[in-house]
Amino acid sequence: MPNIAYVNGQFFPLEQATIPIEDRGFQFGDGVYEVIRTYGGVPFRLHDHLLRLQSSARAVSISVPLSATEWEALIQEGVQRSRHAECLVYIQLTRGVAPRAHLFPNPSKPTVVITFRGIVRTDGVLVREGVPAVILPDLRWGRCSVKSLNLLANVLAKQEAHDAGAREAILVKDGLVTEGCSSNVCLVRDGTIITPPLSDQLLAGVTRAVVLELARKAGIVVDEREVPQEELARVDELFLIGTTIEVLPVSRLNNVPVGGRIPGPVTQVVSDAFRRCLLSETGQE
Ligand code: PDD
Repeated sequence: MPNIAYVNGQFFPLEQATIPIEDRGFQFGDGVYEVIRTYGGVPFRLHDHLLRLQSSARAVSISVPLSATEWEALIQEGVQRSRHAECLVYIQLTRGVAPRAHLFPNPSKPTVVITFRGIVRTDGVLVREGVPAVILPDLRWGRCSVKSLNLLANVLAKQEAHDAGAREAILVKDGLVTEGCSSNVCLVRDGTIITPPLSDQLLAGVTRAVVLELARKAGIVVDEREVPQEELARVDELFLIGTTIEVLPVSRLNNVPVGGRIPGPVTQVVSDAFRRCLLSETGQE
């Protein structure tokens, strides 16, 4: 199955796609992105991802050159061309190509890149047994609600977590939990899901919105509130959520076991509800 890329109006085999070195995404990280996943060829919650792309672009004054219908058609075409039923669709929108200078180029012509790659499902063992995580300081900028290309702090924290034998870093800023390097974080205590509220400190995850809604529908109390770091030591369950990992239990935090059985009962309810939601919206789970 081919991995492919769309660049400014044309599809290419992924390895043949290029952008000019003066693209501001390359030189400044001056752009925004989205990661969408397909199940059986159907993108999950595409509309929500496109809305977030628009809001990220608006937040940094990049104009979005395509309408929702045009994005949808392109993504459908790319998925079909790639022939990956389980496809990771990566959209990158930058402020375009211009001689390197900090000020916005005027006029600017945004660069649109979309890549389509096969995705390997998270290993079932990890879903059943959970993954280790570590707590690290959140060194990112003040607008993490924008899905910006500037991921250096995320990259460094993820690498530090990996080097410590963990799968994810749970980030803490000013004593409060924000999110993971590439996931949102949910704590469970006495049957209640606790997760930091939406703010500039974290991304409004598409999976987060789906999972919290499903949890509430299943009768689980969801408390969206500030989470002091110390609470991480007192959880019954801890799980990560995101497009690529779906719902993933944390088994150890800073090398200390989390709660009891993995996945814990609330994580299991949420995880089952998520699979049913995938089945009803995409025909696959
Ligand atoms: N990351 N928080 C951060 C910092 C993220 O990068 C992501 C997703 C999430 C979860 O968002 P969603 O449920 O919409 O995927 C939360 C993507 C997958 C990535 O950067 O690869």
